[in-house]
Amino acid sequence: MTDQTVDGTNDTNDAASDFDTVDFFTDVSLVDDPFPYFDHLREQCPVAHLPHHGVIGVTGYEEAHEVLRNNEVFSSCNAVTGPFPGFAHPPEATDDMREFIAENRAELPMSEYMVTQDNPTHQDHRGLIMRLFTPRRMRENEEAIWQLADRHIDEFIDKGRFEVMRDFGQSFALLVIADLLGVPEEEHEEFRKQFGALPTVDGGETQAFAQDPLGFLVTRFTQFVEERRRNPTDDIVTQISLAAYGDGSVPPAEDVARMASFLFAAGQDTTARVITAALHVIAERPDIQASLRDDPTRIPNFIEEVLRMEGPVKSAARMARVTTELAGVQIPGGRRRSPGR
Ligand code: HEM
Repeated sequence: MTDQTVDGTNDTNDAASDFDTVDFFTDVSLVDDPFPYFDHLREQCPVAHLPHHGVIGVTGYEEAHEVLRNNEVFSSCNAVTGPFPGFAHPPEATDDMREFIAENRAELPMSEYMVTQDNPTHQDHRGLIMRLFTPRRMRENEEAIWQLADRHIDEFIDKGRFEVMRDFGQSFALLVIADLLGVPEEEHEEFRKQFGALPTVDGGETQAFAQDPLGFLVTRFTQFVEERRRNPTDDIVTQISLAAYGDGSVPPAEDVARMASFLFAAGQDTTARVITAALHVIAERPDIQASLRDDPTRIPNFIEEVLRMEGPVKSAARMARVTTELAGVQIPGGRRRSPGR
């Protein structure tokens, strides 16, 4: 039982009832400190109906593993957006949503990107992307990461202040991935401009997202892929461009470009937030700061802890393709209200 309520009071009984009715997805009172709510949820779980959006919460390790790994039963079609917006016209009641999801998945946001795809498409795309993350490529990338960090710090060190998210986190994460994908260095500034990641301290202009940022990337990467297919070199863009699926077929240039673009989207926001959260902890906890200064070998463990406690992703979503049961709780296929709620 927790001693903190969603509205900040400390009455244990109120806490239980508030946490029973709170909407995890929209209640801002959970943003700063969601942990008492998670404690409460764990007491109801490993699997429990939540009061809103027809969502079933899963906190048990075994059960979460089953949901995330069993692609026959659970679809990733809503992995990015959870219960929102859902399908416009879901069937009234059916225990088998497989055909409906297959036919209507394009309705859901980010449906063109691998994170929302199911097998066998997901497996094919994942196979292509895994070619990027070889130990050799990671080692080369690490060298570039050190240089990038130095260059970024040089940009604002003399000003004595910087906006962590915008002036460091976003731009740094963006260029790390640009390097990983082999975007030529002369293109880096353009990528930063398009993502609004140029330094803005001291009256610099804030670059707005004037267009869909992934739109720019897909267009640019499609050009890269087409160029490299015509004139292969020994860079990583060429490797991705020439990569074939397991059955030997070559993906359309735009599919490859979407995968590369997704890496930017997936890696940038998450990494920038972890960097920001880490600096936040260091700023507010002089004891931790002193400990890291005393012994910098503690930094990797510190980052792991930041990721665990303050990580940017606090839930993952899947949709049941067929009605199923998990830890004694019936999970209806598709998006339907939980019984009795
Ligand atoms: C601290 C940083 C990061 C966090 C917390 C994070 C978190 C996550 C989570 C929770 C998922 C699973 C989403 C789901 O299936 O429901 C995911 C997927 C993914 N992430 Fe990250 N991520 C981070 C950094 C990155 C970076 C740097 C990259 C690439 C350079 C990346 C690429 C991907 C890709 C490609 C997927 C989809 C994988 C698939 O569908 O098989 N992520 N990430």
